[in-house]
Amino acid sequence: MEYNKKSVRDIDVAGKKVLLRCDFNVPLDPASGAITSDKRIVASLPTIRYLLEQGAAVIACSHMGKPKNGPDPKLSLAPVAKRLGELLGQEVLFAHDVVGPDARAKAAALQPGQILLLENTRFEPGETKNDPALAKALASLAEVFVSDAFGAVHRAHASTVGVAAYLPAVSGFLIQKELEFLGGAISHPRRPLVAILGGSKVSSKIGVINNLLEIADTIIIGGGMAYTFSAAQGGKIGDSLLEADWMEYSREMMEKAAQKGVELLLPVDTVAADAFAPDAKHQVVPAGEIPDGWQGLDIGPKTVERYCAAVAKAGTVVWNGPMGVFEFPAFAKGTQAMAEALSRTDAITIIGGGDSAAAVEQMGYADKMTHISTGGGASLEFLEGKELPGVACLLDR
Ligand code: 3PG
Repeated sequence: MEYNKKSVRDIDVAGKKVLLRCDFNVPLDPASGAITSDKRIVASLPTIRYLLEQGAAVIACSHMGKPKNGPDPKLSLAPVAKRLGELLGQEVLFAHDVVGPDARAKAAALQPGQILLLENTRFEPGETKNDPALAKALASLAEVFVSDAFGAVHRAHASTVGVAAYLPAVSGFLIQKELEFLGGAISHPRRPLVAILGGSKVSSKIGVINNLLEIADTIIIGGGMAYTFSAAQGGKIGDSLLEADWMEYSREMMEKAAQKGVELLLPVDTVAADAFAPDAKHQVVPAGEIPDGWQGLDIGPKTVERYCAAVAKAGTVVWNGPMGVFEFPAFAKGTQAMAEALSRTDAITIIGGGDSAAAVEQMGYADKMTHISTGGGASLEFLEGKELPGVACLLDR
């Protein structure tokens, strides 16, 4: 699928007020409230710098977390304004509301080359309902809408989709880059295309497995969801994660892979633990032979070898979801080995956002990957082949 949306380069923004939707939903330290990773803020800089250099007055907005009942000081975007100002090397003005008197006054007074950040859009109850009144109020602050919030394009909210009905709407550089990498990997991959799918639940990966069975040459399954596949083949999985309702589906996927000639690789051995704990006693056992009272928390060494061999032959690798409980060092070896294998290959390596991105970064391989997505849910829905409402609403080229 070719990227066919207008971008900031296709319109004139000089002297204009631009409403810029970013994904500044950054992780915060629960105790101190400090930003623990500014990756998403850094990823927004190219578009912001471009708009400011072009002489636009930039009114940035974003959601943060999932506030339930209106404003929640713990989820204020004020720390983001500060960090963004440090990264840009210029003052970032901050409005203490989204479309209230402070936002309206500061947006009205904003001059070309200046930037204002509005408060968390989810402090407005209309945001997640895609309320047209909120969308209209946001749009009334500006003359052009630029969306660069790749992490939120799977959400049809007032600030991601609704505003596009009232303003000319184009994409920023981050959305463009994400869709070019993710889109390129699945629409014209360098083959063989190897998809590594992990994470705890089959149920959350159904769409991806189904879609990738049409596209990939090899699908590698790891993480908690591998045990549902193992149980579906009649394996003994002890106390491992099981989604009994998805065993039939797992069987169907194995059959579909066989029919389509897609190589579906499942673990051949497992690191089984006697408890879900970082210091649990553990042993390597053959897949499907996990003793009662034990649970699989990582792929075993023979599986690692097999999976790394598949990665070594790949032209393109797409990775979504860890191979085990990588948060516990004793059960991080499978995920670590895959990250290392990806760092060594010449293949195009695309890492979906969320846990796999966190693992690759935590393990120090981030700069060895072709692309690490800033969107967890968004990259997953893209790999499922779904339309992303926050992209669909932008002007076509
Ligand atoms: C994310 O962190 O994946 C995005 O910011 C979307 O957040 P949400 O799941 O709260 O909509």
